[in-house]
Amino acid sequence: PAAGEAGERMLGFRPVPSATGDQVLVPEGYRAQPLLPWGTPIDGRAPPFRPDAGNTAEEQLRQIGDNHDGLAYFGFDADGRGPGLRSDEGLLLINHEYINPEYFFGPPPPGLSADALARERVRKAQAGHGASVVHVRRQADGRWQQVEGARLSRRLHAHTPMRLCGPAAGHVLLRTAADPGGRQVLGMLGNCGSGRTPWGTYLSCEENFHGYFGWSGRRAATPLEARYGLSREGFGLAWHACDPRFDLDLHPHEAHRFGWVVEIDPFDPDALPRKQTALGRFKHENAEVVLDPDGRVVVYMGCDERNEYLYKFISEGRFDPRAPRSAANRRLLERGTLHVARFESGGGHWIPLVHGQHGLTAAHGFHDPGEVLVRARQAADRVGATPMDRPEWMAAHPRVPGEVYASLTHNPQRGGDTLNPIDGRGPAGAARPPVDGPNPRPDNVWGHILRWREAGGRAAALHFEWDLFALAGQPGIGGARAPSANLHAGNLFNSPDGLAFDAFGRLWIQTDGNCSNRGDFAQMGNNQMLAADPASGEIRRFLVGPSGCEVSGLAWTPDRRTLFVNIQHPGEIARGPGRHPRLAADPDPARLAAEPTLMSAWPASQTGEPPSRPRSATVAVWREDGGPVGG
Ligand code: FEO
Ligand code: CA
Ligand code: CA
Ligand code: CA
Repeated sequence: PAAGEAGERMLGFRPVPSATGDQVLVPEGYRAQPLLPWGTPIDGRAPPFRPDAGNTAEEQLRQIGDNHDGLAYFGFDADGRGPGLRSDEGLLLINHEYINPEYFFGPPPPGLSADALARERVRKAQAGHGASVVHVRRQADGRWQQVEGARLSRRLHAHTPMRLCGPAAGHVLLRTAADPGGRQVLGMLGNCGSGRTPWGTYLSCEENFHGYFGWSGRRAATPLEARYGLSREGFGLAWHACDPRFDLDLHPHEAHRFGWVVEIDPFDPDALPRKQTALGRFKHENAEVVLDPDGRVVVYMGCDERNEYLYKFISEGRFDPRAPRSAANRRLLERGTLHVARFESGGGHWIPLVHGQHGLTAAHGFHDPGEVLVRARQAADRVGATPMDRPEWMAAHPRVPGEVYASLTHNPQRGGDTLNPIDGRGPAGAARPPVDGPNPRPDNVWGHILRWREAGGRAAALHFEWDLFALAGQPGIGGARAPSANLHAGNLFNSPDGLAFDAFGRLWIQTDGNCSNRGDFAQMGNNQMLAADPASGEIRRFLVGPSGCEVSGLAWTPDRRTLFVNIQHPGEIARGPGRHPRLAADPDPARLAAEPTLMSAWPASQTGEPPSRPRSATVAVWREDGGPVGG
């Protein structure tokens, strides 16, 4: 971890007030530059973005994808060829989580039949997912630019060849007609949060993969399909009607090949991305990698859905720091043990998900170790894991060994008895777990941040103690739904999501919540990013995003003079049922029509370019005086 610079403070900036406009706001003395918006040609030769979203599927394959989420910066070495610590030139890795059908597609090209148009739109949507690798360079004025024609810049999407690795690779549940060996997959989907390894690879986490699948028959979902949210209609994008691979009546195992953590080598475009099955299959948020003092690799992961679980993987092998990029290090995620958290009063422990233990036996439907990983959610149910208020990102403190934080974004389906005001659609009569210590509030519409300390400060320990770092909410509301004391009129937020420490030990909190700015969410404005002092608990608002966006994904240059942040789905609106869970969140079109804060033309609204569809983008943030961001 970096020591502080001379005079660097934990929260050395003036807080930004909440806002509802269509701009990115940063503190006085800072600059913010939108970079690499959706549709930007990735090779400098692809056709430019069309403001009416009229680009074709072919063009989208060579352009930046949509819905920027997880993010990382990998610096080059001094001669600009391999990996190194340069802060002025590097590769940005950007996840593209999903697409917004309400603005992703342009006007239909004339003369195309309805079937041909549907196929073209599915292909374009598939090209808009995945991730981008982009070679970028800092200019003398602090601004960043894509390096055109760069060899390493590339797109990964729903058809990019990838390998399944680890204990479940080749498992019968992963075999399909196109891949009888169960080891080769096309594409990744729902890539949400991210992580990075000490051996220089990027981790991209598949979250809401389920909605891209469907089936044409009339059958009900199997218990395994239902446990992962697979349904006949999915998100309503109808991929299965145009691309048989996504029809589970025809290819019932294809969905088992999604929902993994994907490991990508930024500097080797020829290496196939690897889906690491030892880390389990669920709706992955991010993957926070920490080394135990004995060299074992620990990966903290959340499964983002109401009443799902916190997981951690502990490797069997040990990291060798003498040769960080060695072949042995690069296989450390292939063998180890997945665990799931169970909380008790003030403490808790990690239960191993090992075949043959804790009821994970053939008698209960778990026939072998691979099946435990493919059905990790059900294995966690069986061992009695603690249901949480929607786990999003985890972040490990870089200077306090064993201290880890988790965003629990919100969960109106906990305790209480009111209708679910945000997520809405829980199955009728769905179980509402009672409140408990780590999930202490009924109808938790605001979310909170949980913290734990592993026994002995060891990442690989199996016991921990926990407390609550922050309960978001409204200071005017007391009783069972009251916020924590570190919330006040100047830092209100809801739905903590992205969460990461910088090397100085500042905790950054990003939000993905209700931006209506009224009722339970009054004075919170648009989604935002805050910074916190983990020791004192003080929280200060650092950035406000444009209308309708979430703020997600963050990365620093090694010198911490540039902070990259992703602005995801500005202007997102829900039209009609189905679609992504978020797009189905509010089924009332009249309310949406009256919702001015959900409209956006960002980033054009900020840069002064001609108006266009709203575009997700990365934002580079730096200090005008060249100091470390936040300090
Ligand atoms: Fe893709 Fe849980 O956020
Ligand atoms: Ca997201
Ligand atoms: Ca998220
Ligand atoms: Ca979220």
